[in-house]
Amino acid sequence: MQKEDKKIPKTVWITGASSGLGLATAEAFRNRGWLVVAGARSFNEEAPNNEENMVRLKLDVTSEESCNRFVQKALELSPTVDALVCGAAVLVLGSCEMTSVEEYRRVMETNFLGALRMVSCALPHMREQKSGRIMLFSSINGLLGIPFQSAYTASKHAMEGYAECLSMETKPYGIQVCLIEPGDHRGGSDRTRLHAAREDESSPYKDAYESACAVIHRDETGGLLPEKLGQKVVRNAEKRRMKFRLRVAKFDQSLAVLLHTLLPEWLNSWILRDYYRGGKNK
Ligand SMILES: NC(=O)c1ccc[n+]([C@@H]2O[C@H](COP(=O)([O-])OP(=O)(O)OC[C@H]3O[C@@H](n4cnc5c(N)ncnc54)[C@H](OP(=O)(O)O)[C@@H]3O)[C@@H](O)[C@H]2O)c1
Repeated sequence: MQKEDKKIPKTVWITGASSGLGLATAEAFRNRGWLVVAGARSFNEEAPNNEENMVRLKLDVTSEESCNRFVQKALELSPTVDALVCGAAVLVLGSCEMTSVEEYRRVMETNFLGALRMVSCALPHMREQKSGRIMLFSSINGLLGIPFQSAYTASKHAMEGYAECLSMETKPYGIQVCLIEPGDHRGGSDRTRLHAAREDESSPYKDAYESACAVIHRDETGGLLPEKLGQKVVRNAEKRRMKFRLRVAKFDQSLAVLLHTLLPEWLNSWILRDYYRGGKNK
């Protein structure tokens, strides 16, 4: 029986599905009748809180063992994986100088290598099926740098390059890849928004850092609605030909991406620095 018969639901694995955009995306897939296998560190398998078409499994994408266990359980629930959405991420705010190598490593381990681990788990199954959709959460930060978010920005730039390679290599196997590039959205978890330990009162960047954090917080709380993004992700997943870049951002953030490709570096840098000073220190 074909999955298109609607009798057998399609299956999507989603990482980072306990809050924010990952949760909204999981709910949007479930509302369209997909079987969602959702993963996050905070899911409790002893008290699973599952609903129809939504199974929550504990997952830590920084651990290969945890990823393998998630995949094994997901395959017991449904033998195919029609789509993989990688949303798990953490953010460490801090200047380049005050962010430690350990903090950079933590962000890369989760945001970039975590996605890569899950893609590596899904690919053999998708190749065998000769179909599959891989959707990787990047960000506007995957396209331009923002002061005091260097670890996060680096992880999302890595994702952009990786996705381009992945897309070319897997096309012959019927696999399609998409980069989801959100601008600021509401509803993100405080658990995943961290500050570099050395970015304290004694930091030489203190004033600029505090201004930037205030602007980042303001932009997120006034950001777009996660539910709308979730619906757009599902619509793209259900297209015959997925869009490779799915940008979901307010006009000014999309404009910033465009200007980044058009303007000289000094002017871009001036505009962004001025914006993140948020009216202070001018
Ligand atoms: N919100 C925005 O404005 C925005 C903008 C651009 C891009 N994005 C991207 O969109 C995605 C969602 O961001 P968000 O801000 O909406 O969500 P969020 O609330 O920060 O959620 C991040 C998710 O990742 C999970 N997670 C963190 N570390 C993990 C690990 N080691 N293993 C498994 N899961 C892990 C968290 O769950 P647990 O803590 O339970 O593990 C949570 O479900 C991210 O990729 C983010 O970079 C967001």
